Amino acid sequence: MSFKKEIERRRTFGIIAHPDAGKTTLTEKLLLFGGAIQEAGAVKSNKIKKGATSDFMEIERQRGISVATSVLAFEYEGKKINILDTPGHKDFAEDTFRTLTAVDSVIVVIDVAKGVEEQTEKLVEVCRMRNIPMIVFINKLDREGRDAFDLLDEVEQKLSLRVVPMSFPIGMGYDFKGIYNLWEKNINLFSGSNRKNIEETIEISDLESKEIDTLVGKKAADTLREEIELVEGIYPTFDRDEYLNGTQQPVFFGSALNNFGVRELLDCFVEIAPKPRPKQSEERLVQPDEKEFTGFVFKIHANMDPNHRDRLAFIKIVSGTFERNKPYLHVRNNKKVKFSSPNAFFAEKKEIVDVSYPGDIVGIHDTGNFKIGDTLTEGEIINYKGIPSFSPEHFRYINNADPLKSKQLYKGIDQLMDEGVAQLFTLELNGRKVIGTVGALQYEVIQYRLEHEYGAKCTYENLNVYKACWVEPTDPKNEEYKDFLRVKHRYLAKDKQDQLVFLADSQFTLQMTQQTYPSIKFHFVSEYK
Ligand code: G4P
Repeated sequence: MSFKKEIERRRTFGIIAHPDAGKTTLTEKLLLFGGAIQEAGAVKSNKIKKGATSDFMEIERQRGISVATSVLAFEYEGKKINILDTPGHKDFAEDTFRTLTAVDSVIVVIDVAKGVEEQTEKLVEVCRMRNIPMIVFINKLDREGRDAFDLLDEVEQKLSLRVVPMSFPIGMGYDFKGIYNLWEKNINLFSGSNRKNIEETIEISDLESKEIDTLVGKKAADTLREEIELVEGIYPTFDRDEYLNGTQQPVFFGSALNNFGVRELLDCFVEIAPKPRPKQSEERLVQPDEKEFTGFVFKIHANMDPNHRDRLAFIKIVSGTFERNKPYLHVRNNKKVKFSSPNAFFAEKKEIVDVSYPGDIVGIHDTGNFKIGDTLTEGEIINYKGIPSFSPEHFRYINNADPLKSKQLYKGIDQLMDEGVAQLFTLELNGRKVIGTVGALQYEVIQYRLEHEYGAKCTYENLNVYKACWVEPTDPKNEEYKDFLRVKHRYLAKDKQDQLVFLADSQFTLQMTQQTYPSIKFHFVSEYK
């Protein structure tokens, strides 16, 4: 197959959802359709079980699973589908944000009873900022849930999306009869008793057809007609360009558990979802079909076995082909590197691969050279943008609890930060180290891993910080900035990239500081330029 065709047929996406909305179930059903797994239950949930916050074995188990499910690839209708797994637990949201830099589109799963939840809002916002094409799947229609129109309104308002229903439920919960597919103009009916299967799919050319009354009953048929009339009156028609630009989002209804509405979703997805997209680097826009290879590291996974310190770096291929044993330039280190055993991922296994194409993910063994965000090329100096750090929510000093192991401690902290487990800030005042995380769980993970993988011990001390704000002076030489540096010295720190950060202890302090120093900009994201 030609290089261009290989690119055309790739669909690399992520599924995002608030925990429990049905991400794992949907992933599994997609893999079943693709023939990549034979039975339900094969995909292990990578979520941390409820109440398991201090169970380290659970954290390790989760890490093990998340290596296995990092990328799930399968073939469907001639397309190569790569699903990039995102951790469901909110304490690992940062990981999900980074994975979103490597997808070409996403599917957002929403629970019909719970509607738009907190985690969905945050993740969708990141996708919206990057204009990532999104398809919404409203799940669990077999349960009593919210009115479809109310939900669509909520999705529009809370997520600031412009929805286009591609299917519509006929009834819900106990009365759920099936789905009218506006995209393919047919009706899928649930089997009456156990609701476990689709009984039949019937092509409907005319909604007025009496056949619908016979199939679902007169009342349900009339309601459906009214609702579809409303849908067609209120919502725009589907426009692929708008979807691809991120200005319109198709919506599907279904039940992942019962395999209902999933094939419709997948069939539409492979048709409309984008092939690998061009990516902006600091230097220029890179097109997937350029001959020379470029790619970037979006995830690093430490080995589970403490005796083997190597790590797996996940690289998204942006352009050209990635070939085994070919020397590539690691741009940040300015060093040529070769990989003798790059891994490609399939549904349940990984294999050494000779050639990979744009859209694909390869896993390469790394002994500590890579950082998240690093770029590989065939020689050109390119730095991919867009793996920002967001202000953490929690901040603690980290102290060395075993003075004989300080070397191990600093090495461990360094490597865990490269992996993106948390963010490190070094105070300007006294050089003390502060760890910032999205969730409290990470502190336990760090402590556990420092001890088990690096033989170092640490303790934490609380630090009252509201937000880490990356500081951007209009003019680093003006008096106002110099004054800021002097007055706020105690609250200033450097991040790992040596960028200046203001650790504001309250929203009020931040407001006051902003008022006092109007020429300085304070950003909650590290990559603000
Ligand atoms: P997540 O990855 O987004 O966190 O969600 P997951 O797929 O694990 O689903 C969360 C729960 O919701 C699971 O139940 C799952 O069976 C259920 N679920 C998913 N899709 C549907 C659906 O279409 N209809 C209904 N009724 N339930 C659905 P659980 O009891 O937490 O787990 P399990 O014991 O069933 O695995």
